Amino acid sequence: MADRKTAAGLDPIETASRDEISALQLERLKWSVRHAYENVPHYRQAFDARGVHPDDIRSLEDIRLLPFTTKADLRANYPFGLFAVPKEKLVRIHASSGTTGKPTVVGYTQRDIDTWASLIARSIHAAGGRPGDTVHIAYGYGLFTGGLGAHYGAERLGCCVVPMSGGATEKQVQLIQDFQPRIIMVTPSYMLAIADEFRRQGLDPRDSSLKIGIHGAEPWTEQMRREIEETFGIDAVDIYGLSEVMGPGVAMECADSKDGPTIWEDHFYPEIVDPETGEPVPDGQLGELVFTTLTKEAFPVIRYRTRDLTRLLPGTSRSMRRFERISGRSDDMMIIRGVNVFPSQIEELLLQEPALAPHYRLEIRRDGRLDSLTVVVEAKPGVEAAAAEPSCRSLAAHIKKIIGISARVQVVPSGAIERSQGKARRVFDYRNLSAAS
Ligand code: DLL
Repeated sequence: MADRKTAAGLDPIETASRDEISALQLERLKWSVRHAYENVPHYRQAFDARGVHPDDIRSLEDIRLLPFTTKADLRANYPFGLFAVPKEKLVRIHASSGTTGKPTVVGYTQRDIDTWASLIARSIHAAGGRPGDTVHIAYGYGLFTGGLGAHYGAERLGCCVVPMSGGATEKQVQLIQDFQPRIIMVTPSYMLAIADEFRRQGLDPRDSSLKIGIHGAEPWTEQMRREIEETFGIDAVDIYGLSEVMGPGVAMECADSKDGPTIWEDHFYPEIVDPETGEPVPDGQLGELVFTTLTKEAFPVIRYRTRDLTRLLPGTSRSMRRFERISGRSDDMMIIRGVNVFPSQIEELLLQEPALAPHYRLEIRRDGRLDSLTVVVEAKPGVEAAAAEPSCRSLAAHIKKIIGISARVQVVPSGAIERSQGKARRVFDYRNLSAAS
């Protein structure tokens, strides 16, 4: 990885022409496809079954000839079946727990770790971070890619890292007060729990040393950004990634434009496909994000179906393309009486209500033959439940009008919703339980 930077402190490729980026992508795509084919039996079999060979990749569009890779392929090859290097070449393994069954296991060579660190360094720079800054990392350390991924990149940029990890919220606040970090890296939902703890200790989060929040690992809305920015008096930017493709830092929102994450296209080739048919859709159209890694040695992925829904947008702050803030995962989509609803749609409306706090849970039940949705939401601190009733009625009316479903809104006292220490769980689906009972 070249350490040469432009006068603005960017990697030269960040502002290269589209032609230069495409040329680099094609060269790297050819390498990555061949690497996967020659070293991973799964890819060889899947390519052969489709009658496609690495030699067939002559342009970037030819990527469409290749088969998709899904989470099921990862499970079927548990734990190391999709690795493209011998185990001795690995320097790190991460895994994500998933909701059921075996974890998803991913591996890295030293070069992969170096690339990852340089992309996180690039990401923190895009967020406004600079060498010499102190970075408080409250993403979980361990098998989750958040903590260690952020850690190596912050060090690479020349920052001083506070490797706090998730949890121990009281201590998070104490260390922020004592060590005076300028940057915090944490999930948006846990950032709100940290805000609560500031207030509980009689402190105003706006008086803290924090100036930049780098938030991701879960969907969040523009309204949530505003909430966090106003609460802490910071710039809050969106970082995206997934373990299968690398970890955090696959894409990063630039602080100067705040218009959705820029994909680091020199290492990841993005496509958007129709989630039903798998057919690629043009830039600008909503669909499922698919990634092909261009440089990864240990764990190359070819056309990996992320299940994340978004659209590709042209570059603004950088020449590389962006995507629109992820509206949700296809897995998180609730189908209520036949209407497709994402938690983020509810969050967007909920945060417009003056008496309601950004802490909520969505409960789905089956009453007889009909699905019912209950939004359980906290009143703002200091607001009595009864005083929040007008906000609840207004929220229910907006959900009906804008999303098109009837929902019950139940207000609970401040602090009643369990706080996340990492990725928040929003949806509680009791439909199968009620069917069984
Ligand atoms: O969550 C990696 C990460 C860590 C990203 C820290 C950002 C910050 P996984 O546990 O494999 O990896 O989960 C990946 O989380 O497919 C999305 O559904 C969701 N996700 C990640 N970042 C965002 C984001 C990490 N900025 C899955 N907005 C992805 C919305 C996100 N969803």
